[in-house]
Amino acid sequence: MIFQPQLRIPGPTPLPDRVLRAMSRPMIDHRGPEFAAILKEISAGVKEAMAAPAAADLLVFTSSGTGAMEAAVANLVSPGERVVVCTCGAFGERFADINRAFGADVVKLEVEWGQPVEPDDLRDLLASHPEVEKVFLTHNETSTGLTNPLQALARVAGQAGKIVVVDAISSASSMPVEMEAWGLDVVISGSQKGWMAPPGLAFAAIGPRGWEAAARATSPRYYFDWRSARTWAEKGFTPTTPSVSVAFAVQEGLKLLSEEGLQNVYARHRRLGEACVAGLQAAGLQPFAAEGYRSATVTSAVLPEGIDTDAFRALLREKYGVVIASGRGTAPVSARIVRVGHLGAVSEGDIAIVLWAVEQALEELDFRAADGRALNAAQPHLTGTEAVAAH
Ligand SMILES: Cc1ncc(COP(=O)(O)O)c(C=O)c1O
Repeated sequence: MIFQPQLRIPGPTPLPDRVLRAMSRPMIDHRGPEFAAILKEISAGVKEAMAAPAAADLLVFTSSGTGAMEAAVANLVSPGERVVVCTCGAFGERFADINRAFGADVVKLEVEWGQPVEPDDLRDLLASHPEVEKVFLTHNETSTGLTNPLQALARVAGQAGKIVVVDAISSASSMPVEMEAWGLDVVISGSQKGWMAPPGLAFAAIGPRGWEAAARATSPRYYFDWRSARTWAEKGFTPTTPSVSVAFAVQEGLKLLSEEGLQNVYARHRRLGEACVAGLQAAGLQPFAAEGYRSATVTSAVLPEGIDTDAFRALLREKYGVVIASGRGTAPVSARIVRVGHLGAVSEGDIAIVLWAVEQALEELDFRAADGRALNAAQPHLTGTEAVAAH
């Protein structure tokens, strides 16, 4: 295909030209002053996007986002300790699995996929588990296209005196994440999401209560030891060889975010999410995530009965150059789910292309004649400039 494929999966996300050019720079000494300046700039930029308190440390790991999730568990949780993990999809389950792998006794607050975790349910669960110190939350559940009410959940956990650990991998930098104001103790993200960089670096912001808990935890840790990462970060370096090219990319991605302005970035993602869900619904798909909790970074929707998911995605990819993701999970409905990513360097026009291609593909699969109804439904959402409500 002579055109660039339209990468509309929920990460890795498309790379702007400026990021691609930044990445092609020659290699530098990862223990030299140039790298130290870059690490400092990245750490400050990621902290700002997470609205982290000044007292928080931002650690950068060479790993995918899951590495930073594992790091959080290894540094915070001791074998045999009881923890609460809220799960409403595949990535909440992953936090539970990692905790179990480190010997934790996991109490799950599990809700049906497509539904949010309810703050009242968390309050009740925590009341019956006073011995629990840590609560693990997924902000944006990428597998179901749902944004949990993080602020309210963190308030409940904070009122109960718990340490709040948040997977903000597919939300931070694309929607508001207020580490300080919402009382989050640890916030995690990954470079291949809203940061507009390739996969390879993971971020963890750790507040004072996170550090106190880490000092008490007894799980083994080496590559992901927060303490050595902090010691090295103070000198501008990482304990082991970092993914230097991805650091170049994140540095440039942060410049792009700051030029657009974070509030504008958030408003754009919200517009894209609303347009995408309205358009897909008009095209005949059923939004999967509960209304009021639909994500600004990824839309999941169920294909009409009789449409084969693989054939639909293949048609989109091969004929229209639009690459979207499949569903996750083992429930029968998962096989009929598709997910459209709209985080990072994605514009209103990019969503228009997806919706047009979706209608075309559905016509070719004998569902219904393409008549522009998806774009029509999306149109009012593509132009709004309204302020962004925080989840
Ligand atoms: C919410 C969430 N958590 C965790 C992960 C895992 O991140 P990674 O694939 O970078 O390890 C992802 C990736 O899609 C995610 O979206």
